[in-house]
Amino acid sequence: MVLIPEPTQQGMICCDAETPRKVVSEETEPYYFETYVGYQKNIEISRGDSLFWISSDLRTAYLTRGPQHIESHFFATLVRGFAPENKSSTITNRTVLPYINGCSTKQIFPPDRPGDPTMQMLFIPPHCSEQHHHIHSTARSVFVLSGSGRCIVGLNEKSSVTVDLVPKRICVLSPMCPHHFETSDEPLIVLPVHVWSSVLGAENGHPMLNGTFRI
Ligand SMILES: [Fe+2]
Repeated sequence: MVLIPEPTQQGMICCDAETPRKVVSEETEPYYFETYVGYQKNIEISRGDSLFWISSDLRTAYLTRGPQHIESHFFATLVRGFAPENKSSTITNRTVLPYINGCSTKQIFPPDRPGDPTMQMLFIPPHCSEQHHHIHSTARSVFVLSGSGRCIVGLNEKSSVTVDLVPKRICVLSPMCPHHFETSDEPLIVLPVHVWSSVLGAENGHPMLNGTFRI
């Protein structure tokens, strides 16, 4: 198991809240975001942008639109060009939606419109793999809320890296970064921010996939 402080070739940045830093989306990404790790006295949210962030006691999540300044203790992600109403939600109750492999989820801030950015909660029970190895078309900024587990990143066994997931650790996964989460004896709860979300059917209804058949 290793901690990865810098971007991996596989497209993940992993860091802990003890060391404040800012992770900015790659220049080639179509959607701009910033993830703030650790204590940040004064995050500036410009007009037209918004910030997903959590309280210092880890019991409440907020979505705050600019212009505004926010003091953040552990985790915040700013999304450019997205400014819905201000929202808040406790993050203390259990998940309510069934997921796959025995996992379950909850929409902390569900997308108002298809494709909007969203913060979710994902509960992974002990001795479980969240999914098959997979990719997403947009970035994920993930905060580990409680428990423990591992993130496996990379295209195949030869090139993959395993990172321990512990409370207050943050993983920023670039678009198309192959990964999955898994657990051992303990459950794991993570809060992923989807920097723009997916729309049912929209991402597998294109010419390259349509008419392509496995033989
Ligand atoms: Fe994922």
